[in-house]
Formats: sequence, structure tokens, C-alpha cells
Amino acid sequence: MKIAISTGGGDAPGLNAVIRAAALSALHRGFDVYGIQRGFGGVLDEGYVLRLGRNEVRGITHLGGTILGTTNRGNPFRWATPQKDGTVKEIDRSDELIARFRAMGFDALIMVGGDGSLRIAYDLFRKGLPVVGVPKTIDNDVSGTVITFGYDTAVTTATEAIDKVHSTAESHERVMVVEVMGRYAGWIALNSGLAGGADVILIPEIPYDMRSVCNKIREREERGRHFSIVVVAEGAVPKGGGLTVKEGAGAGTVERLGGVGERVAAEITSLTGKETRSLTLGHLQRGGSPTTFDRLTGLRFGAAAVRAVADQRFGQMVALDPPTITLVPLVEALAQPKRVPLDSDAVQTARELGTCLGD
Ligand code: F6P
Repeated sequence: MKIAISTGGGDAPGLNAVIRAAALSALHRGFDVYGIQRGFGGVLDEGYVLRLGRNEVRGITHLGGTILGTTNRGNPFRWATPQKDGTVKEIDRSDELIARFRAMGFDALIMVGGDGSLRIAYDLFRKGLPVVGVPKTIDNDVSGTVITFGYDTAVTTATEAIDKVHSTAESHERVMVVEVMGRYAGWIALNSGLAGGADVILIPEIPYDMRSVCNKIREREERGRHFSIVVVAEGAVPKGGGLTVKEGAGAGTVERLGGVGERVAAEITSLTGKETRSLTLGHLQRGGSPTTFDRLTGLRFGAAAVRAVADQRFGQMVALDPPTITLVPLVEALAQPKRVPLDSDAVQTARELGTCLGD
């Protein structure tokens, strides 16, 4: 068997652990294994595929990023193609990708990705490509798996940042607003906010009302707590309002969220008069060495993906269903994004701790 691995889409800590485990498990079975570099660009435009032997995957489990490189502008169904007139047009190059993949002699593709890349994997599978998915994203918004790798590192980084912001907020008697990633799901915000002892946590699943946020800050003032920590998910929306977007979707790209932290901070200052600062954690959450949990999940996912290839279980995604790794059909995993359930015990815990959730 000749297997290809792709780590297209945004990077996440733990990708290299997946690559190492998949490569070594494949070699253990006598399979040939190749990494596609820079998303699907490696097959479509540049012909960059890297044979993964023991040397290529040595000592990489603890490294952030991906040794294969990546892009989140690599959808073969919507390939951004510059035109003669200077504009950029989306072209469907999926047939060409499949033809090249076959010409290169690949028998299976392991696609490591978030919802976007897994959807591409599923669409390629429906066109006849033998694909196994591995759920990766710091956002933790893929259904069918209790957790995606990368998330634990991101939420740990966010918690550490909230801890640090606490001391300066208290010293200066300020409100500090910390904006975290997560796209349209509030997993990072809710869990880092809870672990970091935030006073207010705003998540996309609960549209917020600034009056409720400011009441919480005033209530703390009255109790002699002259500082507050507000954690805002980048996808948080005010009641009746919309997302704060940095850049709309373009040819081959998706919209970029960002800026809601600044917006909330400005509103807090104008409604309460409190000095407020905002901090956007951004890509810090995607970088650095994966936590032990993400390394282990990555290694287990990588090995399980090769097992699935060996058993010809195509169109499936490996998933964590503690204590085991299972397979779920990609179509099920993609049916809807996994968002924070409002009746979850984490939401209930936050409420019982007196954390304001903006409603
Ligand atoms: O999906 C992972 C993620 O980090 C999101 O949390 C965030 O909205 C997005 O990717 C940022 O993408 P980019 O790296 O293109 O700015």
C-alpha cells in the first residue's frame, strides 16, 4: 500500500505526533507513506510530496506546527486561481487532484483536518478517493469525537494568559478583556475562562447583553473588587447583532473573525467609566509544543488512521470516545458543528460559580 498524509488547513499542536504515528504504523505494516506538503498545493501545483521514513519523523512528537507545511487556502474544489486581468477566480480542480493522486500511485489518503479540510476529504471520498479523516482543530468544533487534538494546548495557553492578566488587572484596578479563538464555538473561551477564574465569559452560543456584562463589573466594584476579567470568544455576538469580522470571505478563503474584544472593551469603558484594556491572544493559541494530552491523542489518532486504512474503512474519521478510539462516518461528523451545549455541566458550573455569561 502507498499512503499519502495531508495536514492542510490551519495548523494545530499535535500534528507532528499524528504524522509520526501514522508514518511509523504504516512502515510497521510494510506500507509506503508520503506527506503532501503545503496542503494540496503539494500535489496540484508543485509536486512536493515527501517520503516519510524513520529519519523524517524522528524526534517530532513534541514539536508544534507541521513538518509538512500547510495552507488554509488549499480547497481543490475552490482553488484560488489568478486571472490575466489581475482578479482571482475560484476553479474546481478536484478531478485533476484525484487524477494526479492516482497517477502518483497512492492507494489511500489520510486527511488530518478541521471541519473545512474534513469536508474536502468527504467530497473527495464521494468522488472515489479512498480517504480516512483525523479530526484536528484548536476550536474543538468537530462532531463525532469528544475532543479534537490541538484544543487542549490552546485552552492551556489561554488559561495561562488569563492567569497572567489577572495580576496586572488587580494591580491597576482595570478591566481586562481577553479575546480567544474558536470560530463559531465557545469551547476555548468557556473552559479557559472557567479554569482562569474569569468574571465574565462570552461565547457564541449565548448572545450577550452589555448591560448584563456591566452589571457584573459594577457588582464587583461594590464588593470592593476593583478589577474584572472578561473572556470573549472571537465568535461572540451581541443580542440581535452580528459577528465581528476582520476580513470577509474571498476566492478560496473563509471569513476571518476578530475584533470583538476591542468592541466589548470600548463599550465597558463607555458604560461604566472603568479603565479597560483588551488583549487578543490570536495565533499564540495555535503555536508551541503540544500538551501531553494532545501528543497522546495525536499519536493514537495517527496509528488508528493507518489501522483504518489497512482495514479499508474509507469515508470514516478516527474519533475519541474515551477510553477508546473509534471510527465514525465522515458524513455524520460533518452533519453539524459541535458547539457548547447550553445544558452542559460546564455552562451550569459557570453559572453556579457566579460567572456572568452575558445573558
Ligand atoms: O480554526 C482554527 C483557527 O485558529 C480559528 O480559531 C481562527 O478563527 C482561524 O483559525 C484563524 O485563521 P487564520 O490562521 O487564517 O488567521
